[in-house]
Amino acid sequence: MARETWATRVGFILAAAGSAVGLGNIWRFPWVTADNGGSAFLAVYLGIVLLVGVPGLLAEFVVGRRGKKSPVGALRDLSGSRGWGLWGVFYVITAIALLSFYSVVGGWILRYFGESASGLVGAPPAYFAAPGQYFGGVAAGPDAFGFHLLFLALTALVVLGGVRRGIELGTKVMMPAVLVLLVGLAVWAGARPGAAAAYAFYLAFDVATVRANFFDVLGPAAGQALFTLSLGAGTMITYASYIDEDRSLPFDATVIAALNTLVGVLAGLVVFPLLFSLGVDPAQTSPGPGALFVGLAGAFAQLPGGVVIATAFFGVVVLAALSSSISMLEIPVSFLVDEYGLGRRRAVALVAAGVVATGGLCAFNPTIAGTAVFGFVAGPLVDTLLTVGLIAVLLFVGWVMGRDALAELRSGAGGPSAAVATPWLLAVGAVLPVFLVFTLLTTVGVDAGLGFWPTVLVAVVVGAAAVAGLRTERALL
Ligand code: TRP
Repeated sequence: MARETWATRVGFILAAAGSAVGLGNIWRFPWVTADNGGSAFLAVYLGIVLLVGVPGLLAEFVVGRRGKKSPVGALRDLSGSRGWGLWGVFYVITAIALLSFYSVVGGWILRYFGESASGLVGAPPAYFAAPGQYFGGVAAGPDAFGFHLLFLALTALVVLGGVRRGIELGTKVMMPAVLVLLVGLAVWAGARPGAAAAYAFYLAFDVATVRANFFDVLGPAAGQALFTLSLGAGTMITYASYIDEDRSLPFDATVIAALNTLVGVLAGLVVFPLLFSLGVDPAQTSPGPGALFVGLAGAFAQLPGGVVIATAFFGVVVLAALSSSISMLEIPVSFLVDEYGLGRRRAVALVAAGVVATGGLCAFNPTIAGTAVFGFVAGPLVDTLLTVGLIAVLLFVGWVMGRDALAELRSGAGGPSAAVATPWLLAVGAVLPVFLVFTLLTTVGVDAGLGFWPTVLVAVVVGAAAVAGLRTERALL
């Protein structure tokens, strides 16, 4: 059977933007920004999105559009090396890890959405009375597992429809709905008493904080940029493998990054005025997984018309989460279809069955070896997998594809964007991998022991060693 392709250009853009826009924007972005210096952090973050995110997106797009396969097949075919094919399996595993915890959080949101919607016609939502307690009761255990199954089923349903009738059609509805609803909510939230104080808190241009903590801020900013742009898990490789015509990849990458940032900023404009209007001090509320549920749920409970707002809000989050989770499921599915010739149905069934179990592990959140599974998967595990995953793609593009990558980027790109091709390849092959190794080292805390410059040196050495290894592998082939 011929490989499916996107029906329209805007279909690809919306699908990729739909993958990018998710819990990372609505739930994580506002908090990370407020915690790290407000709009001064925003400036650093925007810089990273532009200088790391967009080139990173381009790298995944180039691999995907040229390879026309899942990450496994694309990396193998483009390099002619089975080793790279094996490395591709790393992305399949990362995607499954992501989906495992994401589906549990998606389940929480579905439950809150359902509760809110039923409050429109019946008794007020159960979480209104005691938000903290309510969340504590449903966050883990059989309840969480049940809703995880429901969310996973919805995800599987969209992916079953295939690239055009499932993912493309789905995101064409979901993305505009998310944008319209969020703008509406932001306008409404702006009319709350206390909105001015909220904007001041969220958008405070706190240069001092950023300057004093610049290197501590880099890690969170980079981590947030990768997660929110869906980089490092092969998602964008997979989506780009369904592009059949040559159009400007730099243009698409820029639009996707811009849309994604817009949604993050909008989400903050909704979340903070709501909290401030009720005198909830975000600085005092822990930005843990419960923040969205406990803080906001409490706010909805006290507002006139809160049920309507809650329904709209959790509706937005469900749609945004779903358009991301389908992009996670599509990676292992495309792998099974491309590599083993499985039909889409069987592939979806197989992967979903696996995620029932791995997600179940997150839903019941047992403590293994002193670490709670959910927090570990959602935090350090995913952060590390994504960073390592992106470093590998960048090195692949820079040192294995080389000129082919340049040609692929230029194809379909207009004059000005074709001109950035060479600087882009330099960044992708050398500067960005070193930067990412550096952030990885700071996240693990190596810089605290070594000091700043030695850590930079270690990053450079690690990068150089990786490149030397790659070149030897090529010479041997
Ligand atoms: N970007 C999405 C969000 O912000 C999550 C996501 C979807 C993702 N696909 C991904 C993250 C692939 C990393 C890799 O919620």
